[in-house]
Amino acid sequence: MPAGEYEFVVVANRLPVDMTVEDDGSLSWERSPGGLVTALAPIMQKNGGAWVGWSGKAGLEHDPFDAEGIHVTPVTLSAQEIADYYEGFSNGTLWPLYHDVIVPPEFHRNWWNAYVAVNRRFAAAAAEAVAPGGTVWVHDYQLQLVPSVLRLLRPDVKIGFFNHIPFPPVEIFAQLPWRRQVVDGLLGADLVGFQRPGDASNFLRAVRRLTDLQVRGPQVTMPGHWSRPDRQVRAQAFPISIDSAAFDELARTPDVIARAKQIRKELGSPEILLLGVDRLDYTKGIRHRLKAFGELLEDGQLRVPEATLVQVASPSRERVEQYQLLRDEVEVTVGRINGDFGTLGRAAVHYMHHSYPATEMAALYLAADVMLVTSLRDGMNLVAKEYVAARSDLGGALVLSEFTGAADELGQALQINPHDIAGTKATIMRAITMDAREGRRRMRSMRRRVMQHDVQRWADDFLGYLAMSVPSERESV
Ligand code: G6P
Repeated sequence: MPAGEYEFVVVANRLPVDMTVEDDGSLSWERSPGGLVTALAPIMQKNGGAWVGWSGKAGLEHDPFDAEGIHVTPVTLSAQEIADYYEGFSNGTLWPLYHDVIVPPEFHRNWWNAYVAVNRRFAAAAAEAVAPGGTVWVHDYQLQLVPSVLRLLRPDVKIGFFNHIPFPPVEIFAQLPWRRQVVDGLLGADLVGFQRPGDASNFLRAVRRLTDLQVRGPQVTMPGHWSRPDRQVRAQAFPISIDSAAFDELARTPDVIARAKQIRKELGSPEILLLGVDRLDYTKGIRHRLKAFGELLEDGQLRVPEATLVQVASPSRERVEQYQLLRDEVEVTVGRINGDFGTLGRAAVHYMHHSYPATEMAALYLAADVMLVTSLRDGMNLVAKEYVAARSDLGGALVLSEFTGAADELGQALQINPHDIAGTKATIMRAITMDAREGRRRMRSMRRRVMQHDVQRWADDFLGYLAMSVPSERESV
């Protein structure tokens, strides 16, 4: 296959820009919010980088274009492929399977076939873009077959893969009818990165259990054939982070500080403001959080209007059935709590089903006394890190589920098992009544971690390890 011209190619389901088709058919785009683009943009601008991804629209065909120093290469998905590959196999099979089967994963052969076809398309686009001996970094569970397909097309390139979500224990992973194909897909990479050491060891156990390959420590040996020597695949944890300095700076701006004060006022100046910020996803434990808060009101440990909960739930995967069911449940529960405990003009729960720009999020974080992160399972949870980065005033308390990747790093958060409603209630009360000095000490320690380990460091670490790997074709030269 002829080589392309880009030294560094990122492959992700989503593009780094949001594209809009205007009324006259022309296209406009703006940079999407999010840490991944922020971390990778400088590397791409410096080395000549391309980004292969899907625009989020059905059937949109568009030639590659340059945006902010990135060569944007849109991959087209038909409406049927969105249903089968994105909503189906990625978010109806893999997402629940990889998140502790919180809802039952569905296994459908037509979904799998679409997943294979779309992964091949992404791999072909990457193979076309990458320069001889270049580097390709593939992201997340939607694209686990890309590494092996790409290796066949372009054995000269270095291939990294990073899984942003958990990797399940083999006992659960083994349910997947196509488990072997997924493992083989990932083993096409030179370096497979995970959020937590536990995810990397789950993957290595799956390799041991499902293949005959030799696994030693973090390395899997892929036997060579003919003149091609053996190849090593390394699996390791690289916990992702946020652009901590940018978030810290944003939260210190006078506008954001003023907005935080205004938010509290608009909410009726409660004494205790609790906050939840999530994609509306069943992995986030929003129902458990509402149950705990509702019971605290029922017990009389908290009262409206002194205490109020703001829950931002950004719309997500709205055509997938389990997300529709969750939305109904959350909205009924919010309605019930407000009906039981709200007073005229003062809601118990302020529920918002939209997403907000970063400035408003920073103001909400600054305004909140207690941040509630109650995920039942979460690869990392960047909301927890954003909250910490926003609190240079050392105020606020973080209640954090032990089932998040972030819990590994934020030992000074008040950790909970969200399934334990009594324990969660007690921890919320502890956060509310915590001595200010203890709160500051905990926040200072968490800030040290988040400020030092930012998304740039994450990308540099991963790419540093990837640079040390030697692609098989070059070894034989
Ligand atoms: C998680 C996944 C990402 C995904 C994001 C938003 O963070 O790890 O791969 O892009 O959710 O979900 P969406 O389905 O809208 O891309």
